[in-house]
Amino acid sequence: MDPIYKTDALIAEDIDAYLEQHQHKSLLRFITCGSVDDGKSTLIGRLLYDSKMIFEDQLEALQSDSKRVGTQGQEIDFALLVDGLAAEREQGITIDVAYRFFTTEKRKFIVADCPGHEQYTRNMFTGASTADLAVILIDARKGVLVQTRRHSYLCNLIGIKNIVLAVNKMDLIDYDQAKYDAIVADYAAFAEEIGIKAFTAMPISGFKGDNITTNSANMPWYTGKPLIEHLETVEIDNTADQSKPFRLPVQWVNRPNLDFRGFSGLISGGSVKPGDAVRVLPSGKTSVVTKIVTLDGELDEAVAGQSVTVCFADEVDCSRGNVIAAADSPPEVSDQFEATIVWMDDDALHVGRSYWLKLGTQMVSATVQQPKYTINVNTMEHLAAKTLELNAIGVAELATDKPLVFEAYEDSRTLGGFILIDKITNRTVGAGMLHFSLRRAQNVHWQPTDIGREEHAALKNQKPRVLWFTGLSGSGKSTIANEVEKQLHLMNRHTFLLDGDNVRHGLNRDLGFTEADRIENIRRVGEVAKLMADAGLIVLTAFISPFRAERDMVRKMLPEGEFIEIFVDTPLEVAEARDVKGLYKKARSGQLKNFTGIDSPYEAPENPEIRVNTVEMTAAEAAEHIIRKLLPLK
Ligand code: ADX
Repeated sequence: MDPIYKTDALIAEDIDAYLEQHQHKSLLRFITCGSVDDGKSTLIGRLLYDSKMIFEDQLEALQSDSKRVGTQGQEIDFALLVDGLAAEREQGITIDVAYRFFTTEKRKFIVADCPGHEQYTRNMFTGASTADLAVILIDARKGVLVQTRRHSYLCNLIGIKNIVLAVNKMDLIDYDQAKYDAIVADYAAFAEEIGIKAFTAMPISGFKGDNITTNSANMPWYTGKPLIEHLETVEIDNTADQSKPFRLPVQWVNRPNLDFRGFSGLISGGSVKPGDAVRVLPSGKTSVVTKIVTLDGELDEAVAGQSVTVCFADEVDCSRGNVIAAADSPPEVSDQFEATIVWMDDDALHVGRSYWLKLGTQMVSATVQQPKYTINVNTMEHLAAKTLELNAIGVAELATDKPLVFEAYEDSRTLGGFILIDKITNRTVGAGMLHFSLRRAQNVHWQPTDIGREEHAALKNQKPRVLWFTGLSGSGKSTIANEVEKQLHLMNRHTFLLDGDNVRHGLNRDLGFTEADRIENIRRVGEVAKLMADAGLIVLTAFISPFRAERDMVRKMLPEGEFIEIFVDTPLEVAEARDVKGLYKKARSGQLKNFTGIDSPYEAPENPEIRVNTVEMTAAEAAEHIIRKLLPLK
C-alpha cells in the first residue's frame, strides 16, 4: 500500500516506458502555473506540437475540430489539443494533475499541468513537489495578478529554484517593450518580498509562437533565449545535490543468501566510495562501505540520483527507514519539529490526533499542534487559526512517536518533505516541510529506571490492564466501571478508576467539549492510564471518548493485549430518556452545544473486546459479564 497519489501510480508505467526510450538525455520536470485564460493550454499545446509529440491522427482530428470551433484564422487551436488530452485521461479515473511528456534533441521533459484556482492548491502542490522548474504565465494585458502571487509563493515554498516568468499574449499588446518591462519590474518587487532569489523573464506568445522555439522577429529588443532553448539548457539541481554530504535512505535490505547482505535505496545527496566511513541513523552505529552494487555491476563511486546497494564491513543493524550517511556529517534525529503544512483533505486537521507521517522511507505516528498561524496565499498575511482546512497552509509544531532522521526541507527535499495520512481512511491529508527540530526534543531524554513495569506488576501479583469504557453520556459507563472496580477490589486486585466527570475537575479542568479539547482530554487520560498500568495497576477509565482514532491511539500506547475496550452500547433514546444530569434536555433546547449524540458525533467501536448493554442487563450483571471475560487476572 502506498497511499500517496493515485495519479502517480497510474502514470508510473507511462513514465517508465518514456524514460526508457530516451535514457541518454537529461530530464527536466516542470510545472506550468496560470489559468486557462492566461493561455496555459495553448502554450503547452504549442510546446508539444513544436516538439512533434502529437500523433498524426490526433493532428487531423484537431484540425477539423479547430475549424468547427473557429480560431481567429489560426489553423490549429493548441488549447483544444491539451484539453482533449486531459479529457481522455480523465475518463474513468480521477486525475489530480495531468502530466505530459515531450522531448527535444537535447532533453526530455515531463510537464505537470495543474489547475490554477485557489481550490486547487493541493493539486498544484502535488505537481510542484517533484518539479525542477516552474513556468509562471502572465497575461500581458493583465499583468501580475493575485493568482500570479499565489502560484509564485507556492513554487518558492516547495523549493523550486528555477522560475520562468512567461509574459504571454505579447501579440495582443503589440509586442510593446515598455509594458513588458513594467510587468517584469512589478513582479521583481513582489518576488523579492517573498524571497525568490532569481527568475528568468521572457515575452512570448503561445498562440503565435513568438519566442517559443526561436527568437521572434516581432520583439528584436528581447535578447534572451526562447522558451524551449531555456528549458533545454537550464541547469538542474542534481549537481548541487551531489556536492552535499552522503545520504542513502534505506528502502530495503537485500539478503539473497547468507553470504550477502546489502542495503538498497536511492542516494538523495552526496557521493560514496568503497572505503568511506558511514553512520546508520537513527542508531548512530558506524561502519565502512566495502562494495557498491548496481544492476550494471559494482561501482567505484555512486552519486545522488543513483539507485544502489551498499555493503558494510561489519554486521551493523540497519533496516528500511534508516538513513546511511557520511560518518562525520550525519543528518539530525529528532521527534519534535516546526513545519509548514499544506492541508489537502476535505476533513480539517484534528489538532492532537495521531496521523501516519511518511518521510521518504520512514513511517511514524505524528500529532500536530494548533497552528501558530496560517498564511493567506493571496496576500501573504499571517492569520490566527485553530486548525487547517482544505488548501490551507500553516506553520505548526508536530511531535512523532519515534525519532525521525531528517534535514531541513531547504537543504533536502527527500529528508525534509513529508506527507500525513489519516489512519482510518488511509487518505493523504497533508503535505509538509520540516523547518527545524525543537530544542526541547534534544534536551529531554528518557530516564531509565531499575524497577520497571514487570517488577511493579509482579509485586501486585497481577497483569496490568486498561479497561477502557466508552459510550454515550448516560449509557452507564461510570456505574458499571464502579461496580467492576468494587468486585476486583474484593478479589484483592490493585485498581484505579479514572472517571470523565472527576478528571475534568482537576487534571483536565482547562478542557471543554470542542473536538480538539476532547482529543486532548483522551490523550492526557491515555498517558495517565499508561503510567498507572506501568505501575502495575488495573486501570478503569469511564470517558465518552467519542472518536475511534483516539481510542486506537491509546490502544497502541500499551503492550499488546493490555487495552480492553468495553463498549457500553446503550441506544441514544435510552440514554436520553434517562437523562440523569438533565444534559440531554439542555442540549435539545440548544442551551448546551457540542453534546455527544445530539450535535457532536459518537463513533462506536467496531471490534470492542467486550460489549455490554444496560437495556438487556443490570449494571451488576454487566459487571459480572465483564469480570468473567477478564479472568484469569494473572
Ligand atoms: S469526552 O467526550 O471528552 O470523552 P468526558 O467523558 O470526559 O467526555 O466527559 C463527559 C461528561 O461531561 C458527560 O458525562 C457529561 O456529564 C459532561 N458534559 C458536559 N458537556 C458535555 C457535552 N457537550 N458533551 C458530552 N458530555 C458533556
